[in-house]
Amino acid sequence: MRAITYRESGGPEVLQLTDQPVPEPGPGEVRVALAFSGVNPTDWKRRSTAAPGDEPQTPNQDGAGTVDAVGEGVDPARVGERVWVWEAAWERRWGTAAEHTVVRAEQAVPLGDHPFELGAALGIPFMTAHRCLTVAEHLPRRLEPGALAGRTVLVQGGAGAVGNAAIQLARWAGATVVTTVSSPEKAALARAAGAQHVVDYKKEDVAARVREIAPDGVQAVVEVSIRANAEVDTEVVAQHASIAIYADDGGPEFSAPTRAFMALNTRFQFVLVYTAPAEAKAQAVADITTALAAGAIRVGEDAGLPLHTYPLDATAAAHQAVQDAAVGKVLVDVTA
Ligand SMILES: NC(=O)c1ccc[n+]([C@@H]2O[C@H](COP(=O)([O-])OP(=O)(O)OC[C@H]3O[C@@H](n4cnc5c(N)ncnc54)[C@H](OP(=O)(O)O)[C@@H]3O)[C@@H](O)[C@H]2O)c1
Repeated sequence: MRAITYRESGGPEVLQLTDQPVPEPGPGEVRVALAFSGVNPTDWKRRSTAAPGDEPQTPNQDGAGTVDAVGEGVDPARVGERVWVWEAAWERRWGTAAEHTVVRAEQAVPLGDHPFELGAALGIPFMTAHRCLTVAEHLPRRLEPGALAGRTVLVQGGAGAVGNAAIQLARWAGATVVTTVSSPEKAALARAAGAQHVVDYKKEDVAARVREIAPDGVQAVVEVSIRANAEVDTEVVAQHASIAIYADDGGPEFSAPTRAFMALNTRFQFVLVYTAPAEAKAQAVADITTALAAGAIRVGEDAGLPLHTYPLDATAAAHQAVQDAAVGKVLVDVTA
């Protein structure tokens, strides 16, 4: 099969189009004939820093395609099922930038009739956003219509892929969503995703604006840059609110005013999708599936997530685009 692989860590140039054997699914696994691979920042970060083992490594965690073989113990009726795939390359060599991948059966989730482009955009961003919106004691364990009713969520960076997912899921669950962006173009995307309130953090006083919108404070913050935003977060969180920190954009370390957060019993919750508890991942998959069926998850410019598609042999360029902070979702068309 045609597969992008790399044998050493480095820049996008380590990604090569190669011919690899089609992998066979083991017990409890399915093989997926891929249509699209989704690219996330984690894919270029791993490619840059994590040297593969003895076998060539195919990059990219997310994808979508059709089940074309099943291993022992998996219902053969799954052959032909359209699916979205998550964490394909986590501690495995078969990422999604290839004509086939092999994953545990639960990592290939029914997609129904939804487009493969949508399926390939789900995994990392939507599972991360789900975790950020459900991780604290005063948040619901699962998302469904009404689960966040009466709550206000602050999504820092609403034009990002995770920010977009957080807006879409929080709105579906009934929250009021305030989000921050850095330009009018990004404001339009965040509104298209469903945010009712958009604040330009380069031009406006974010804390003052959020307090106008939510005088009692916000119940949850989905945070992409705690280093830049810790002070604003202090000023806008309600008592018992959670700040879910899923990235270190803006710097690896931060400081926070201990007493102010103590007074509010604020919860700082760090989130890494790979090492989230298995039951949290299963709940995320279940809730994303329900939201998808309800038509509540969309991609494309009119959903605030413009798509940028590259052919398989240009996967290096797709990685470079994500590395250069492309706005929207970068996809690889595996069949092109
Ligand atoms: N922990 C996890 O499991 C997990 C999962 C997914 C992603 N991540 C990480 O999360 C980060 C974002 O991923 P992504 O796919 O969403 O990337 P993305 O699409 O590039 O989005 C990042 C967004 O953050 C915004 N941003 C940066 N600094 C900001 C600030 N100070 N205030 C508000 N917004 C700010 C950016 O816009 P402006 O710069 O224009 O403001 C951009 O819209 C990456 O570092 C990625 O590795 C972690």
